[in-house]
Amino acid sequence: MNEKEYYNLIKPYEDAMQMILSRLDTLNHTLYESSATHLVPIHNIQSRIKSKKSIEDKLIKKEKKPSLTNAKNFLMDIAGARVICYFVNDIYNLVEILKSQTDLIVMKERDYIAGPKPNGYRSYHIILGIPVYCLDGMEYFPVEIQFRTMSMDFWASMEHRINYKKERQDREKLVKELKEHARKLEKIEKSFEKYSENIQNTVE
Ligand code: GTP
Ligand code: MG
Repeated sequence: MNEKEYYNLIKPYEDAMQMILSRLDTLNHTLYESSATHLVPIHNIQSRIKSKKSIEDKLIKKEKKPSLTNAKNFLMDIAGARVICYFVNDIYNLVEILKSQTDLIVMKERDYIAGPKPNGYRSYHIILGIPVYCLDGMEYFPVEIQFRTMSMDFWASMEHRINYKKERQDREKLVKELKEHARKLEKIEKSFEKYSENIQNTVE
């Protein structure tokens, strides 16, 4: 894949990303306006388009030739967004609303909140097919969205930095400790949920 091929490849993914980011922005402020407490569900959003090198590396790892066609056919995370919410409820609410929008399709969905990974990883992953129109019609392009609370994101970012797909000597001890931290963070997250319930009861 040369530079020009890479830029042609990512163009529609960039369009798909723009569309979903603006959808999320609209949802964030409409939910703010419609809630009695005037609170937004989204804390922040990060997004990225996979670099040429990481597209090629991932294809090679999947034992595929790093070609344009293979990138399009085998990678679902060329466009990726991470939506950091305040509460678990906000995540389920946003996911439900997006799933009810009839122009989007669900290509893959993994609820690692209801069922965390064995290492303690929690997050709600959904790959949405976003319609992108060009001269000869419409095509769905996938965008991988990871919904997390701030505490899920804190844990995942640290774990990624320290441990994810890395070789370490103290691995066994580390894995055990990280899992314990995940459990504690979930407990803290639940305590904050209680404060939020109280606000809803007292504020007009
Ligand atoms: P990938 O080949 O990595 O894309 O995994 P997958 O196709 O099995 O999909 P999955 O939904 O499990 O993971 C996709 C993405 O979620 C990863 O690229 C990471 O960004 C994130 N992720 C999944 N598991 C972990 C984890 O254990 N730790 C951290 N820090 N991130 C994770
Ligand atoms: Mg990935």
